[in-house]
Amino acid sequence: MTEVVHTPRVFSGIQPSGGLTLGNYLGAIKRFVSMQDSGVETIYCMVDMHAITVWQDPADLRRATRELCAGYIAAGLDPAKSTLFNQSQVSAHAELGWIFSCVARMGWLNRMTQFKDKAGKNRENASVGLFSYPALMAADILVYHATHVPVGEDQKQHIELTRDIAAKFNHDYGVDFFPITEPVIEGEATRVMSLRDGSKKMSKSDPSDKSRINMTDGADAIAQKIRKAKSDADGLPSDADGLKGRTEATNLVNIYAALADMSVDQVLADVGGKQFSEFKPMLADLAVAKLSPISTEMARLMQTPDEIDKILRSGADKARAIADPILAQTLDIVGMVR
Ligand code: AMP
Ligand code: TRP
Repeated sequence: MTEVVHTPRVFSGIQPSGGLTLGNYLGAIKRFVSMQDSGVETIYCMVDMHAITVWQDPADLRRATRELCAGYIAAGLDPAKSTLFNQSQVSAHAELGWIFSCVARMGWLNRMTQFKDKAGKNRENASVGLFSYPALMAADILVYHATHVPVGEDQKQHIELTRDIAAKFNHDYGVDFFPITEPVIEGEATRVMSLRDGSKKMSKSDPSDKSRINMTDGADAIAQKIRKAKSDADGLPSDADGLKGRTEATNLVNIYAALADMSVDQVLADVGGKQFSEFKPMLADLAVAKLSPISTEMARLMQTPDEIDKILRSGADKARAIADPILAQTLDIVGMVR
């Protein structure tokens, strides 16, 4: 069999459930923008069908989808360069998702830590969709034959599952059709932690608003949350080794580095020896300088939701033009009569 070489194509998605956090920005969106600007083909989705694996109020879901699109654009994604759309407008995702539900094994899905975290103790009451979610995520990626997926560290396991699904499909049908996708998990903030508890991921679903910086927070809220963020009593070390075992200190330095586009060592070369009382205001100023233009632009874009909907519709048209032929070929491979 001749090996198919897939041209580089980037796909990623974020759930429109609740607002965007600094974790989403540094772990995902900021890197979506740099990949777009590197000239490779980029497709970025608002995965609304994933969002409803947990109940969403319909009006909130609509608003969160538009706000996520506004966030993408305000952060630097350009609808003329990247394909931006919401998942439910491209039905090929759901159709390929079903086929992949028949490829993925129960045992594989049983190992997914995100399901265990999200379902919590009451697993019997979790939706079936929450359990089978990774098969849909694999379809999101593979229906575009995407080769690279920028995500935060927490999504690594799902990308590995995507690779397993592609390999099993190719093997079971004797084809070399789906690419084995690479996760792109890089930068200084692949896992931004809660500002209140350095052992927990910063998340839009954390009950405490003080644990996270929201992309819509104003300058005062950002400064206050950083001032109150958990740190430790020691001063800042002058190199990364000195951060070992200091989870909260590490988190704040990582955030600074990612916002400033510097390495952790470069940051520490500048601020080593300072106390947190001095470093936190520097971090707050930097965060406000980087985030407030984005939140201002998001608010402006949200005033014309029709414009956002237009962008999503035309993005969906572009997405369908890629996804539909790949789905059709998949159906042929599987043996569906058309
Ligand atoms: P979600 O909000 O769960 O849909 O996540 C969307 C994207 O943001 C995924 O690529 C996540 O890995 C990334 N992400 C979410 N929270 C964080 C965090 N605290 N640190 C780094 N990346 C994150
Ligand atoms: N599972 C991702 C999350 O919870 C969201 C997602 C859905 C995704 N489909 C995707 C990310 C495809 C990358 C590629 O954050």
